[in-house]
Amino acid sequence: MTEDVTFKIFRGEPDEDGDKCGEMVNYTVEMDEGMVVLDVIHRIQAEHAPDLSCRWNCKAGKCGSCSAEVNGKSRLMCMTRMEDVMEETPDGEPVLVKPMQAFPLVKDLVTDNSWAYEMNKKMVPINGPEKLDWEFNQNEANRIQEFRGCVECMLCVNSCHVLREHQKFDEFAGPRFFVRLAGLEMHPLDTENRIPEIKEDFGIGYCNITRCCTDVCPAGINITDNAIIPLKERVVTEYYDPIAMIGRKLGLR
Ligand code: SF4
Ligand code: SF4
Ligand code: FES
Repeated sequence: MTEDVTFKIFRGEPDEDGDKCGEMVNYTVEMDEGMVVLDVIHRIQAEHAPDLSCRWNCKAGKCGSCSAEVNGKSRLMCMTRMEDVMEETPDGEPVLVKPMQAFPLVKDLVTDNSWAYEMNKKMVPINGPEKLDWEFNQNEANRIQEFRGCVECMLCVNSCHVLREHQKFDEFAGPRFFVRLAGLEMHPLDTENRIPEIKEDFGIGYCNITRCCTDVCPAGINITDNAIIPLKERVVTEYYDPIAMIGRKLGLR
């Protein structure tokens, strides 16, 4: 069974000063059973707006490129079922689709996420082990396996008030990169100590554990509880635990 659906989509580009400049435009198309938001966008491109820009690759929730805001929520368009979207959209109202608001606009639904590539380069990769005859304990592997599921969609970054509202892109690594840092710090064979950078350069203190990042992660990573809080605990141990401080002074760590 088919029915019509109206999408109200942001169309625009940055002006000379880099400010977002555009308007919300309505498009109505037929919606088939089983469609996801990205299918509707493709139908709009095919039938009404071939110049509507959006980013996508896998259509399977794995490449992290189709991130957008659907009805104000940070979501992957390819994994968001129209059935669910219609349930939350008030009768007679269009479905709102906007680009991620935390990032600079390129065009329409496409944002410039190059900040993420620059931030990624600042992280020191795995250091070690020197000997290669190690055994990897399954429990240790399980702990960091969760973090490897990140598809780099940046939806967590888009939902984090430290970046979205306060624009602390120079001082705060953001949830996605605390996930990466946790994966590095908890790696059983890694010998690097990134705690000073996590405190100073990556600004973990700005995070006040609101869990908005965890709520939107399409990979189901428990960003706050499993990555950020353990990193915060390591910072506290390194800088504020009196016993650890005495141990360091005595050269025991
Ligand atoms: S828990 Fe921290 S990183 Fe996640 S959204 Fe809240 S402030 Fe940002
Ligand atoms: S942690 Fe989750 S929300 Fe953040 S970039 Fe990775 S997959 Fe996306
Ligand atoms: S198209 Fe790859 S995650 Fe949506």
